[in-house]
Amino acid sequence: MTEKIRVLIVDDIPETRENVRKLLQFESDLEVIGHAGTGGEAIKLAEEQRPNIILMDINMPDSDGITASQQITKSVPEAQVIIMSVQSEADYLRRAMLAGARDFLMKPFSGDELVEAVRRVHETRPVLQKAVVTQSSAGSAGQIKESVREGNIIVFFSPKGGLGTTTIAVNTAVSMARAGNKTLLVDGSLQFGDVGIMLNLKSRGSVVDLIENVSDLDQDLLSSVIIEHESGLKVLLAPPRPEMAELVSADAMKTLLDTLRQAFDFILIDTSSSLNDISLAMLDTADRIILITRQSLPSIKNVGRFFDLSEGLEYERSKVVLVVNHASKKVSISVKKIEETLKWPATIVIPEDIIAYSAADQGIPLVRPDWQKRPVVRAINRLSDHLVGELGNARKISKAEESNGSPSIARLFNR
Ligand SMILES: Nc1ncnc2c1ncn2[C@@H]1O[C@H](COP(=O)(O)OP(=O)(O)OP(=O)(O)O)[C@@H](O)[C@H]1O
Ligand SMILES: [Mg+2]
Repeated sequence: MTEKIRVLIVDDIPETRENVRKLLQFESDLEVIGHAGTGGEAIKLAEEQRPNIILMDINMPDSDGITASQQITKSVPEAQVIIMSVQSEADYLRRAMLAGARDFLMKPFSGDELVEAVRRVHETRPVLQKAVVTQSSAGSAGQIKESVREGNIIVFFSPKGGLGTTTIAVNTAVSMARAGNKTLLVDGSLQFGDVGIMLNLKSRGSVVDLIENVSDLDQDLLSSVIIEHESGLKVLLAPPRPEMAELVSADAMKTLLDTLRQAFDFILIDTSSSLNDISLAMLDTADRIILITRQSLPSIKNVGRFFDLSEGLEYERSKVVLVVNHASKKVSISVKKIEETLKWPATIVIPEDIIAYSAADQGIPLVRPDWQKRPVVRAINRLSDHLVGELGNARKISKAEESNGSPSIARLFNR
């Protein structure tokens, strides 16, 4: 016999909780495993009982339904939240969806509507793929805990300008997109972004338009601002004027990335070489930081300082991937010497190649079928394969969810 769908009911009015329970009681495939009257209680019960479905009211004492949903989607990723709301709470509803809720029911709803929503959301739940290994407190064998997969964020950074950060970010992104990954490239060099030039793309909007509407993103806005390159890569450009970068705050950037990562396998971010609160927010959020150096003392020294910083920020060692660009055997500082000095392996070495200059000037990617055999292109493809291999091909939404109307932001990008 298949397992029952385990439901938790959260509402501050006891009578409502009881009514909802009654509506579910005769369904043989559903089981109400608990009730909560506050957001805080809901979080606690969800963490203890690990329900499949949580029916969540919005307005409650202490932590409200949105805050509770946000917390639960993180700590109990297998639980799917359905918001129960009255019409006047439409604005809350959108926020709840961004907080990870999967569906909503307008109060008052019928038993059929309720049962149908519970089954639909359960059946179309995202495939749980990522096995996160957590050490038990005793430090013995790791337990396997499954969580919902979100897209990975990869930030390209060099503490020194002009070393090829944008070239590597753009071409790794094209390589990933060409390999069939749902990939978004964000120009995070907000003042003097070069991604548009390198890919010969123009957009009517930029990251600033999304930031300004970060709590209210809709399909029209997203599709007018995020553009598609012929490789299939989606691109979010930097603002057209440097002073517009001022309009972006670190918090809003983080919220935007958290929202967008629900819709892509990979989000790659090109950055400028300066460190500020926004680049730090991007680095913090990143699953991997591609740290770029070349065979020169100033750049190696600055990369060393970045490693000190990343230790101070308590980034895991595996988060930072060292890449040497413009590599040449003719330079006296060898790649081996760099590795010894920094005590860090160079995961990928990208050779110097004149075609990089002409590609950038023509606004075409290096990663193109006629250049596949060039060592520079092979190295970039290796970087792309390495990242996909390590991080996994991320978030997959079941076909059922795609067609069945998940309210999540992911739907905005379904092709
Ligand atoms: N491996 C390479 N071989 C040859 N030229 C390269 C290579 N990588 C990058 N370049 C060239 O170096 C120049 C600077 O590259 P890019 O703009 O990518 O650097 P950046 O680090 O992003 O610079 P900025 O600090 O201005 O943002 C470009 O003309 C680019 O084509
Ligand atoms: Mg750049």
